[in-house]
Amino acid sequence: MNELLIAEKLVKSFPRPGGGRDMAVAEVSFAIASGEALGLVGESGSGKSTVAGLVTRLIEPDRGRIILAGKDITGARGHRLRRGAYRKMQMVFQNPLASFNPRRTLGSSIAEPLLNQGHSKKEAAAKVCALLEECGLPGGCARKYPHEVSGGQCQQAAIARALAVGPELLICDEATSALDVTLQAQIMELLGRLKKRGLSFLFICHNLALVQDFCDRTAVMQAGRIVEQGRTADILASPAHEYTQRLIEAAL
Ligand SMILES: Nc1ncnc2c1ncn2[C@@H]1O[C@H](COP(=O)(O)OP(=O)(O)OP(=O)(O)O)[C@@H](O)[C@H]1O
Ligand SMILES: [Mg+2]
Repeated sequence: MNELLIAEKLVKSFPRPGGGRDMAVAEVSFAIASGEALGLVGESGSGKSTVAGLVTRLIEPDRGRIILAGKDITGARGHRLRRGAYRKMQMVFQNPLASFNPRRTLGSSIAEPLLNQGHSKKEAAAKVCALLEECGLPGGCARKYPHEVSGGQCQQAAIARALAVGPELLICDEATSALDVTLQAQIMELLGRLKKRGLSFLFICHNLALVQDFCDRTAVMQAGRIVEQGRTADILASPAHEYTQRLIEAAL
């Protein structure tokens, strides 16, 4: 199998205010092949965002391994992480406004990783324009500040920034949840185009209809564990786990 990302028995607990520890993620394992979208669903607090944080190395695991493009990145830090893993995977969050610096134009935020990679200002400006257009925005949006564009446009710009480093994997944590249905459809259309181009996705989403349309496979989390995973069509048509059945019923 051509696995781009392998998460192996990831464990993460957090200290409980009164003492002891709460298990947020317990022995979670999954793999994402090149060009594949894996959906991660489950009720609030089931550990989905913690999994995203572990995979992107924003959160340190207690145990387990993360293998990206054949390389064990579990212990990667600083320079090595930035040069390697950071370029291969990027995260898109729920609130696009919060992911931009309000005092910088969208263009300057998107250009930052390009300048860090050694592109000239002129090259970076041209690339920013191309990235914005790829994400459905006019190149002129580069001069706007985050508060000067709509929520949907801001999310399009956040995706443009994520794409600037040329990632192979996008981790979307409720990337469309803050948007109205029309904007949601626009973003899903954009993600669909990126998927056709060969990008892989870890797609965290409360909306089972979006997961059904977009994800090749789906993993269902409950209380820190993956209770079932498989082809999305199979899981939604005949859920093996009682929790998944309830999740599907709740979505109808
Ligand atoms: N930094 C933290 N410190 C303490 N507990 C945390 C921390 N981050 C997450 N948790 C706990 O870990 C559990 C899983 O949280 P997580 O945010 O991963 O859930 P989620 O599935 O993303 O939920 P939602 O659908 O609401 O976004 C929750 O019980 C949460 O309270
Ligand atoms: Mg979450």
